[in-house]
Amino acid sequence: MRPVAITRCVCQRMPFATLAPLARERGWTLGDLMRETGCGDQCGLCRPYLREMLTSGTTEFHEVIWE
Ligand code: FES
Repeated sequence: MRPVAITRCVCQRMPFATLAPLARERGWTLGDLMRETGCGDQCGLCRPYLREMLTSGTTEFHEVIWE
């Protein structure tokens, strides 16, 4: 079985690796990130990953995170 790799907001086609440095540089909260990029604001499935990314800096996930 191939491992899961979750690395982006699919709706906005935006990699977490692009979002993380932007968020760090601009001091974005999840709400700021959603408002500025639209990521997490459509289907919402990436939202728990974005939250974790903002906390830990992780940009690649191998497990499903449920809200
Ligand atoms: S995957 Fe990010 S809003 Fe849908």
